[in-house]
Amino acid sequence: MSEPLVLGIETSCDETGVGIVRGRTLLADAVASSVDEHARFGGVVPEVASRAHLEAMVPTIERACETAGIQLYDVDAVAVTSGPGLAGALLVGVAAAKSLALALGKPIYGVNHLAAHVAVDQLEHGALPEPCLALLVSGGHSSLLRVEDVTGHGGGVDPLGSTIDDAAGEAFDKVARLLGLPFPGGPHIDRAAREGQVTIDFPRGLTSRRDLERHRFDFSFSGLKTAVARWVETQQRDGVSIDVGDVAASFQEAVCDVLVRKALDAATDQGIEDILIGGGVAANSRLRSMATERAEATGIRVRVPRPGLCTDNGAMVAALGAELVARGRTPSALDLPADSSQPVTEVVA
Ligand code: KG4
Ligand code: ZN
Repeated sequence: MSEPLVLGIETSCDETGVGIVRGRTLLADAVASSVDEHARFGGVVPEVASRAHLEAMVPTIERACETAGIQLYDVDAVAVTSGPGLAGALLVGVAAAKSLALALGKPIYGVNHLAAHVAVDQLEHGALPEPCLALLVSGGHSSLLRVEDVTGHGGGVDPLGSTIDDAAGEAFDKVARLLGLPFPGGPHIDRAAREGQVTIDFPRGLTSRRDLERHRFDFSFSGLKTAVARWVETQQRDGVSIDVGDVAASFQEAVCDVLVRKALDAATDQGIEDILIGGGVAANSRLRSMATERAEATGIRVRVPRPGLCTDNGAMVAALGAELVARGRTPSALDLPADSSQPVTEVVA
């Protein structure tokens, strides 16, 4: 077979994503987001997300096919995020993918959302270096993974550490709210931080010698969030006006410092020379520059997809699907379930 043409569907959170790839070439990446409908609640409301996926699914599939210049019956396989994510939201994507696979008589691959965040980089920077160390940071996850084989074979995907409380993106969203910035907060903090200076020394979670003994590759951001809240409260009580830019820059610096420090430590510990950063927080400009600068000094290479491919999209699912087809992996059964807590070690459901 020439390079496989794969359609990927992503509905694990609030983005309805449909991507189409041929091998490692991106042909279409259609995304419909329900983020505006969640903004007034300050977080994603699962039921609202599910309903929005239902409405957006067919038009988004049509838009992706049109952009790619293909007909549905051209595809060699359908891939879909089967987990982890919001159960009701996942179900919409999985049901849509099953219908397509059944109607077209094509194989279906239910794939892991986190592995897809890793595989997407192939669309921009070519074949993944394997093994690589993946730092995945999004609204729902903060993980360090050793990726021996992104399709899950052999050493597969091995979790080295994860957050013990809030995810990195969640911390960005909560701190943004505290500073009166809109949801989702990450891009707003990123922007505000560019106008500010790092003037406050906020705590770096799980970096003390004692914590490192038990949690060397784990993260914790809830203490940092509380520290920012206390700092803001104290200023307000004392009648001192708050420089949002400075608070944003100082908070962002603390998050990025911990993420980059632990990723470099894990890569060095594992004897890995390539770090890949993915997930929505990988769109953060300071994280990108800090990781690149610090890695250079240690001889480690860093790959980060362009911001549009870091946040949730269908192309990442298609990219992983195409890799599964190319490596001859067994498809999922047509009755595959949506698994809201699919472990990262399970790349294909
Ligand atoms: O991967 P993603 O689109 O969805 C999840 O799987 O969660 O990530 C969304 C998260 C949100 O928390 C958002 O605030 C954060 O990614 N984010 C950012 C930036 N862009 C998005 N965080 C920091 N800086 C950014 N530029
Ligand atoms: Zn994600």
